[in-house]
Amino acid sequence: MKQILLVLLFIGIWGCGQQKNNSQNLQNRIDSLELKLAESYKPGFGEFMSGIQAHHSKLWFAGQNQNWKLADFEIHEIMEAIEDIQKYETDRKESQLIKMINPAIDSINQAIKKEDPTLFKTNFTYLTNTCNACHRAANFEFNVVKIPDSLPFSNQDFKVNEQK
Ligand code: HEC
Repeated sequence: MKQILLVLLFIGIWGCGQQKNNSQNLQNRIDSLELKLAESYKPGFGEFMSGIQAHHSKLWFAGQNQNWKLADFEIHEIMEAIEDIQKYETDRKESQLIKMINPAIDSINQAIKKEDPTLFKTNFTYLTNTCNACHRAANFEFNVVKIPDSLPFSNQDFKVNEQK
């Protein structure tokens, strides 16, 4: 009887040891995953902004050509980049300012929905002024954006694509 108890005790102690080992292994894996996550690539604020810059320019030429489908696409690309900034740039305090662009984006969406080139022009100016207002608020006032003079890309057609 004594021997059986001893064997059971031994199994019990051994089992606890195994459990400790398992949870240590699990902790090691969590630590290494956390390290991998911290070191994984994520685009910087400036990269999101460079993307927004291209879509801002394309949006203008889409509107100028009354290509409302393309304009709608471009403003949504800007909206996505802004959502990504909110998601991925939480460690940058400037991200808290990004919300200021929402009314300007809404106004562009309205002009696109109404297919109104005059309203589009006015609201595009409002959008561009808001970009610069945020740059000033974020102490990046030297990054000045403006209404573009020339096509950003020569390999994209901004006119409405009629079956050619
Ligand atoms: C949070 C408010 C905010 C708003 C709104 C904003 N920006 Fe920016 N922008 C920044 C910050 C901050 C930087 C500097 C990023 C960095 O650290 O590289 C920047 C940088 C830029 C740059 C320079 C990128 C480079 O690397 O050369 C451009 C171009 C730009 N923004 C365009 C725009 C346009 C176009 C809009 C409007 C459609 C806009 N931004 C709206 C905050 C903003």
